[in-house]
Amino acid sequence: MNILILGSGGREHTFAWKIAQSPLCKKLFVAPGNSGTAEVATNVNIGVTDFEAIKHLVIEKHIDMVVVGPEDPLVNGVHDFFLNDDAIKHVSVIGPQKAAATLEGSKEFAKEFLYRHDIPTAAYKSFTKETVDNGYVFLETLKPPYVLKADGLAAGKGVVILNDLEEAKAELKSMLVDAKFGKASTKVVIEEFLDGIELSCFVLSDGKNYKILPTAKDYKRIGEGDTGLNTGGMGAVSPVPFATPDFLNKIEERIVKPTIEGFKKDNLPYIGFVFIGLIKVGDDPKVIEYNVRMGDPETEVVLPRIKTDFVEILQAMANSTLDQINIEIDDRTATTIMLVSGGYPEAYEKGKEISGVDTIKDSIVFHAGAQWHDGKIVSSGGRVMAITSYGNAYQEAIKKSYQNIEKLHFDKMYYRKDIGYDL
Ligand code: AMP
Ligand code: GLY
Repeated sequence: MNILILGSGGREHTFAWKIAQSPLCKKLFVAPGNSGTAEVATNVNIGVTDFEAIKHLVIEKHIDMVVVGPEDPLVNGVHDFFLNDDAIKHVSVIGPQKAAATLEGSKEFAKEFLYRHDIPTAAYKSFTKETVDNGYVFLETLKPPYVLKADGLAAGKGVVILNDLEEAKAELKSMLVDAKFGKASTKVVIEEFLDGIELSCFVLSDGKNYKILPTAKDYKRIGEGDTGLNTGGMGAVSPVPFATPDFLNKIEERIVKPTIEGFKKDNLPYIGFVFIGLIKVGDDPKVIEYNVRMGDPETEVVLPRIKTDFVEILQAMANSTLDQINIEIDDRTATTIMLVSGGYPEAYEKGKEISGVDTIKDSIVFHAGAQWHDGKIVSSGGRVMAITSYGNAYQEAIKKSYQNIEKLHFDKMYYRKDIGYDL
């Protein structure tokens, strides 16, 4: 079959790398892709939300399946767009329809879903400009730290956690009254603060059945020791050492099963990846958030551990036959370290030549914000490359990635040197 992947990050390079290994994949395209996907697929310069251009490409190249990487096209209804067009409705789309994608597109919608289906999560209330005074009163009833979340998509910046009550009130005003995050902060969810260690659980849904993929932990802050600004993710480890069989069983029984059942009860068709952001509070898992796609850089450690043909898995998702497939997982640990442009997640320079990529033999280099330019690989984004390694223990895998990073260089390259420090 011919497959099109939408996206251009490390996640999409990992998808492309994995799909290209399958004998079931005849031609592989990535829109728009990066320098890494160019090595295993054909890049097509189309934006992920340009649905008309995607449709033309799908028809022209006889694409049978579209795998959606990022949330934007899903929240904007790319799956619905396919279903509503006779010329392309036969094409399988991996990624939920708009109604279910709202689980990521609206924090309030996600909280209502969690409450409706009795899934453990932080207590919350949501507010608008009209009810901002009630928001101040609600903050006064809480203990610090205060967790404020813009309801809509805010490029990963919409969650603000503050220790001081007056600052929290000022932030609430800034979000609701001064539209700090534009339309995304028309509503704000204020949540109980949960204290614990985070991990992510990835679930495949075919609308009827589910399969759980390996857990992963990502490192979101820019600075060592989990300090400084939030990023898309600076590194990841899979499996998560503290996710014991007993804890994983709690995740499946209390969270995964009611989530999949919830999709059915609420009539939310869901073919795709469910990314459940969890926090371990004491010995119990609670949901921090849903994403309707795979994580990045979690994908760079989860997919390399899947031994089963990935296209077979995608087909089972599309055909609602996940119950008939056995997914084999590599026992080894995989870790990834993200190389970023100096200054990220704030302003940074692009166009820096990246050297040494060819010299890496025993790690996998997944390209993210990187493109070919005049015969050279140059940086084109904040997160530039993810260096993934296997090991029998996570320490061994991490060491291998760090050794190989020594061979890579670009001007103002930065990475965290403490990935895995808290495990
Ligand atoms: P989110 O975008 O909802 O994943 O939130 C971003 C980050 O904020 C999470 O990864 C957590 O580190 C933190 N966070 C979100 N909600 C809470 C909460 N209720 N308690 C503690 N930390 C939280
Ligand atoms: N690494 C977190 C995310 O993909 O949202």
